[in-house]
Amino acid sequence: MYVETEKRPVRKPVTVPMLHAMKAEGRRIAMLTAYDFSMASQLEAAGIDVALVGDSLGMVIQGHASTLPVTLEHMVYHVSAVARGLTTTLLIADMPFMGDRDTAHALEAGARLVGEGGAAMVKLEGGAPHILDAIAALTARAIPVCAHLGLTPQSVHKFGGFRIQGREASAAERVLTQARAVQSAGADLLVLEGVPSTLGEQVTKALDIPVIGIGAGPHCDGQVLVCYDMLGITPGKRPKFSKDFLAGRGSVAEAIAAYAEEVRNGSFPAPENCFN
Ligand code: KIV
Repeated sequence: MYVETEKRPVRKPVTVPMLHAMKAEGRRIAMLTAYDFSMASQLEAAGIDVALVGDSLGMVIQGHASTLPVTLEHMVYHVSAVARGLTTTLLIADMPFMGDRDTAHALEAGARLVGEGGAAMVKLEGGAPHILDAIAALTARAIPVCAHLGLTPQSVHKFGGFRIQGREASAAERVLTQARAVQSAGADLLVLEGVPSTLGEQVTKALDIPVIGIGAGPHCDGQVLVCYDMLGITPGKRPKFSKDFLAGRGSVAEAIAAYAEEVRNGSFPAPENCFN
């Protein structure tokens, strides 16, 4: 016989319209990456709003120097593992490198990430015309899209490294134009990575959809970090835009809860985590 021994407050599942409402109400969105069931369960327990299975898994799980070697098979495997750890946290899956090389491939990959993997949304990097077409096609088939602009890691070779984007006026204008274009194409969310805080603020104010920053300053509608960066276990130097939330705390659960709290009360990112 099943006996209920503990009553916990039940959180409603986070949905895409709910994220829009959070922006409208000025409530910041806390997002983290996860790549497996156990970490996903920690995010769920801490009440993280959005989990992202990023293709950063190529670097932090597989040990590659970039995200480029990650395949659709890898993504579906990790997305389905993470999905099993979530009940209310919204799940976003990254489109792997070249998964969106044309609309047909983007639709096929999107269908697998959502249908097989269990994601609620897919994330596409860049604002090129073929990406705008893919965003429109996925959205038309009821697959919500998170766009990703600024320092888009799949463009590492084009950028000549993982470099801050949008510092010059013309480059900032380009990011702003792309942001308006991805929203017009149907994106429901935007991740803005590695840009000066002033540009992060401009883009956030210009768009109706929520803007989630990573190294994009404190004015975004929410923040995202790679979970291993914010636990201080990624090998090498911690990126400036991240913070070790495990330092001085007793558990991963406490670190994730502290991250959510600092994102929501606006104390993360601090000035030392931001770019000019
Ligand atoms: O791949 C990833 O984890 C990402 C986030 C860092 C935004 O794209």
